[in-house]
Amino acid sequence: MRKMTKGVTSALALTIGLAAAARAEDVEVLHWWTAGGEAAALNVLKEDLAKQGIGWVDMPVAGGGGEAAMTALSARVTAGDPPTAVQMLGFDITDWAAQGALGNLDEVAAAEGWDKVIPAALQAFSKYDGHWIAAPVNVHSTNWLWISKAALDKTGLAEPTSWDELIAVLDKMKENGITPLAHGGQPWQDATVFDSLVLAQGTDFYKAAFIDLDPAALGGEKMAAAFDQLLKLRSYVDDNFSGRDWNLASAMVINGEAGMQAMGDWAKGEFLGAGQKPGVDFVCIRFPGTQGAITFNADQFAMFNVKGEEAVKAQHAMASAIESPAFQSAFNTVKGSVPARTDVPDTAFDDCGKKGIKDLAEASAGNTLFGSMAHGYGAPASVKNATYDVITAAFNGEYADGASAATALAEAVAAAQ
Ligand code: GAL
Repeated sequence: MRKMTKGVTSALALTIGLAAAARAEDVEVLHWWTAGGEAAALNVLKEDLAKQGIGWVDMPVAGGGGEAAMTALSARVTAGDPPTAVQMLGFDITDWAAQGALGNLDEVAAAEGWDKVIPAALQAFSKYDGHWIAAPVNVHSTNWLWISKAALDKTGLAEPTSWDELIAVLDKMKENGITPLAHGGQPWQDATVFDSLVLAQGTDFYKAAFIDLDPAALGGEKMAAAFDQLLKLRSYVDDNFSGRDWNLASAMVINGEAGMQAMGDWAKGEFLGAGQKPGVDFVCIRFPGTQGAITFNADQFAMFNVKGEEAVKAQHAMASAIESPAFQSAFNTVKGSVPARTDVPDTAFDDCGKKGIKDLAEASAGNTLFGSMAHGYGAPASVKNATYDVITAAFNGEYADGASAATALAEAVAAAQ
């Protein structure tokens, strides 16, 4: 017990010490972009700010999906010393805003006309009580499948567009002696795959279950079917999946050890970083049964209350740099995501990026654009974490069948609200 207290105290001392190293004209940025493609994209922002004379104090907290980063953030805020800007998703942003911890970007937003160019689905989380509190940097989506072109060609089958076609490709890959599905067994990754399975059961169903949290949908037959499919997918994963980081799973597809990965489009950053090309080395398709709809997670930089004119100036300059159309193009072509503004041309984007931009516009117009439950845009963290528990338990064989998992999900979500 004594030892633990000491550990926590020195962790706090360390973070406070780090903050002291920041000058008023610097920005201190907390984020979880530590994988190759992510770090490359973040460099675009660092360099952009450096050109304006704004220094960067880096506070990386590794861990896809950002759970560890959010824990580190709480410690900093509790110590009364928040960073300038924090990478954040969905309900986490509005939760911090509700606590009065975030600054105000209205001046920058008004001067630059953000209201007109940032999609309403994002604004719902970038604004609180009518005030801008965060600067959205991108739009990612979780319902993608990344397939090795060589492994697909070897199956002699077409890109799968339905569950049955997907299973046929996975079976053939197994016969061909590779791991059909590259997967990292971490709760957020299990949940990322599950977003797609729930969406494939129908857009109305996704909305009822993961946005409206309707108990009948959460515990019903379609949810049971989605869980049965998750259990089936488990049979195509290798023995060492437990705890594997998502980018190592991407690497398995890149180096030919595995056939495909179901992951958000940050995976593309890894393929590109390895020198691979869409359509040549890898194929990007919507998870079978979800073309036409999107489960999105937009990374935003939530801006915390910082003290002093210079610090606020640097913070506003960062927000402005993030929303510049040129930056949006330069950053998102590297990151794998698509711009957080609707007026950025797709010319610099590769085929997967162009598809991402087109899919987003279509989903937005057709009301089939939904927040990703796995990445904090479906429901607040308490509910999200409750779904993680059940999804991961299901993936690891703790329920007899999909129906029991669905029942457990409905109970867990009810208890978490
Ligand atoms: C997501 C985030 C992405 C990517 C991914 C893996 O939550 O939105 O930008 O970083 O985690 O780390």
